[in-house]
Amino acid sequence: MYRIREVDGSDDEISDTLRGLHRLTFLDSAPVPEFGVGHWWLAYQERLPVGFAGVVPSSYVANAGYFCGVGVLRAHYGHALQLRMMRAMELRARQNGWRCVVSDTTNNLFSANNFIRAGYRLYQPGQPWGWSNTLYWRKPTKSLAFGRRIRRTRTPLS
Ligand SMILES: CC(C)(COP(=O)(O)OP(=O)(O)OC[C@H]1O[C@@H](n2cnc3c(N)ncnc32)[C@H](O)[C@@H]1OP(=O)(O)O)[C@@H](O)C(=O)NCCC(=O)NCCS
Repeated sequence: MYRIREVDGSDDEISDTLRGLHRLTFLDSAPVPEFGVGHWWLAYQERLPVGFAGVVPSSYVANAGYFCGVGVLRAHYGHALQLRMMRAMELRARQNGWRCVVSDTTNNLFSANNFIRAGYRLYQPGQPWGWSNTLYWRKPTKSLAFGRRIRRTRTPLS
């Protein structure tokens, strides 16, 4: 049984946990984020942190959140933890009033498939910030509100 919890990345103990998970999941292949900025989530199995994700204000896209990192320990792959943390992140993005969430993947089919599952679309930013083979993803936050509106107006079956 897994739980997703938003955490305070500026708390020393939490940032140590985030840093440890980042190291174990990215294996030093990506720079360690500044955990004091943005919003962060941990995925727990019981009391054990097994995954993390974060969103920060985008430096490239106006009024947007940048989904800046997600990692799950290998032993816990396959429980849709990236997807579950993305859902929590998108609610926060909407509460922040951001018009969309953007992100990118490079050579990562597992993560790319989760962006597709979560309803993101590929797009080409005006100022690409990655490598020549980086894929850029975007999801308007209004599509979240749209999904909620559909559920509220559904006629009950009887
Ligand atoms: C990307 C990542 C977070 C996805 O983890 P996840 O949420 O557990 O993945 P899913 O639940 O979508 O897994 C779907 C399937 O792919 C498999 N899978 C997921 N990531 C995998 C990986 N890196 N290598 C091999 N198989 C993987 C799962 O075992 C599962 O297989 P199954 O359907 O046979 O059970 C995880 O691979 C990871 O932490 N990778 C290292 C860090 C990273 O690359 N982050 C993303 C940067 S863009």
